[in-house]
Amino acid sequence: MMYRLQPIRLEDEAMILAARNAEHVRMFMMTQSIITPEVHAAWIRAKLAREREPYYLFLHGDRPIGVVGITHYAEALRSGEWGFYIFATDAPKGAGTTMLAAFLDEVFRQGFGRVTSLVFTDNVKSHRLHEKLGFTRDSVIVGFVQNKDVTVWALNGLQWQRQRENFLEMINAVQVESL
Ligand SMILES: CC(C)(COP(=O)(O)OP(=O)(O)OC[C@H]1O[C@@H](n2cnc3c(N)ncnc32)[C@H](O)[C@@H]1OP(=O)(O)O)[C@@H](O)C(=O)NCCC(=O)NCCS
Repeated sequence: MMYRLQPIRLEDEAMILAARNAEHVRMFMMTQSIITPEVHAAWIRAKLAREREPYYLFLHGDRPIGVVGITHYAEALRSGEWGFYIFATDAPKGAGTTMLAAFLDEVFRQGFGRVTSLVFTDNVKSHRLHEKLGFTRDSVIVGFVQNKDVTVWALNGLQWQRQRENFLEMINAVQVESL
């Protein structure tokens, strides 16, 4: 079954809030407290207004299973930080890697220079994913939030061009809808 990256829409507001607040997702996010509907409403409206901070729902067939997008975009550097999660607990194995490879391919195609990432040092699965995708481990910020250490990862367009052929099958399995 094909996958899709579909730009988020206002009608996805409630679903994304529920997914983002699920315990198995928020425990890995930099903001771990429950997001209120008011904060979320402002967030999604801001995202929809910012062309350079694309956010997508990731669907397996017609079923939403994940979210991936850019935050803190810096125009001068053409650099943004990504955030992502697979919220469906029964998503197919490989779904995360597929979502991320297709997303990276799309943002570098859109002209991004660099994607950065903040990952809790104990999020082993996420570190493995970043490594596999070709990110470079940049630094560790000690006690970044709630006294927890965070690893900073970075990937530039050139590094991705060298890496992308390892992910072609996955990239081709994802239909990316235009913003
Ligand atoms: C991180 C995340 C997106 C990975 O998604 P996923 O769909 O599990 O990813 P994949 O199936 O592509 O697998 C990624 C790695 O985990 C391994 N993995 C996946 N499912 C597994 C399972 N059930 N048991 C053991 N390992 C598993 C895969 O083998 C793969 O590693 P490998 O390539 O070395 O084999 C997902 O776990 C998630 O959303 N976590 C919570 C939010 C989060 O951490 N977001 C990132 C914040 S920085």
